[in-house]
Amino acid sequence: MGVMNIEVEKSRDGLDPLVDDLEKRFQRTFGTAFSKSAVRAWKTRIEENPVLLARQSNRPTGFIVLRPIAGQKTDLALIHAVGDHPRVLRELVRCGSRHVDQETPQIPTQISSNQSWDEPIGRPKHLFRNVFLSIGFRAFQVRILEHLFSRENPVSSPDLHKGYELRPYQPEDLDLCASIMFRSPDLLMNTIPHPIEECRDLIRLPVLNPGTPQRSSRSLVATYENKPCGFCGATADGIIAQLYVLSEHRGRGLGQALLSACLSGFNRQGIARVRLTVIEGNFAACSLYEHSGFQEVSRYPFWYRHSQPRTEPTE
Ligand SMILES: CC(C)(COP(=O)(O)OP(=O)(O)OC[C@H]1O[C@@H](n2cnc3c(N)ncnc32)[C@H](O)[C@@H]1OP(=O)(O)O)[C@@H](O)C(=O)NCCC(=O)NCCS
Repeated sequence: MGVMNIEVEKSRDGLDPLVDDLEKRFQRTFGTAFSKSAVRAWKTRIEENPVLLARQSNRPTGFIVLRPIAGQKTDLALIHAVGDHPRVLRELVRCGSRHVDQETPQIPTQISSNQSWDEPIGRPKHLFRNVFLSIGFRAFQVRILEHLFSRENPVSSPDLHKGYELRPYQPEDLDLCASIMFRSPDLLMNTIPHPIEECRDLIRLPVLNPGTPQRSSRSLVATYENKPCGFCGATADGIIAQLYVLSEHRGRGLGQALLSACLSGFNRQGIARVRLTVIEGNFAACSLYEHSGFQEVSRYPFWYRHSQPRTEPTE
């Protein structure tokens, strides 16, 4: 039997069953606690952004989300193919990149891809690696770290230096926290600058979703003489999504204090494990997390590209 043609086009026609399929995959992989907030955020991304759909014999078999971010870069996100069909995945990555390069020249230099959230569930690494490398992507290694509460792994409660305080995050803090995040970039943001709109989006989704007050209660803001100087963004279900301290306030135990207070909150709430991601090479953050009892449970590559090579990738 001949190989079936794969057609990729900008369309949402027949997308819903594919999204359901992806959700089932996340649930199987990460368990309900993890997947609730993540899936909610990813569904919003799918709804709000253009999608390329792959079809074989007119049957939808995969999709990729193109997420333009404030005129600076496009995320090739949430690549999914039924049954992990390698040719469909490859075709989606290729068409997604081509689309960004040729059809949206107003979005100049950067493409990133967070497709590899799926790596921990055994999608063959070389599948994307070869495609991404061939079109000029490079990768960060993202580490997934986990904290399990136990008597052997206690949560410390360090004292704050004079003038510093912690308070619960309120929805009105969104812009202040986005500004802190923007002004205190981590390794990833230094390499792929995040416009302030994206910082806001990252904080809002999936963590501090307006309208779900309980979700914001695990997030904290640090102040110095009542002025915000750091924050920790966390879901209600055990994920720490952001930890940022303005550079002029670093090295005074504030990162540790925010992390510990957030962990204590989770512990009191009866959450058994807390997870976060950190880029390998972010030594300050890795060291902070490891000293606080986090251990690596998995890792995956996050692909990015700055330039726009016009050459077509070869098979
Ligand atoms: C990571 C970050 C939040 C740490 O905040 P901080 O207030 O400076 O951290 P603390 O003063 O509480 O330090 C706590 C521990 O972190 C580690 N640490 C902090 N800065 C470090 C550095 N420059 N190099 C190595 N380890 C460092 C140390 O283990 C330190 O413990 P110690 O002082 O007993 O050695 C801060 O550097 C930051 O905002 N970085 C940019 C954003 C970022 O990378 N966030 C993490 C994303 S996953």
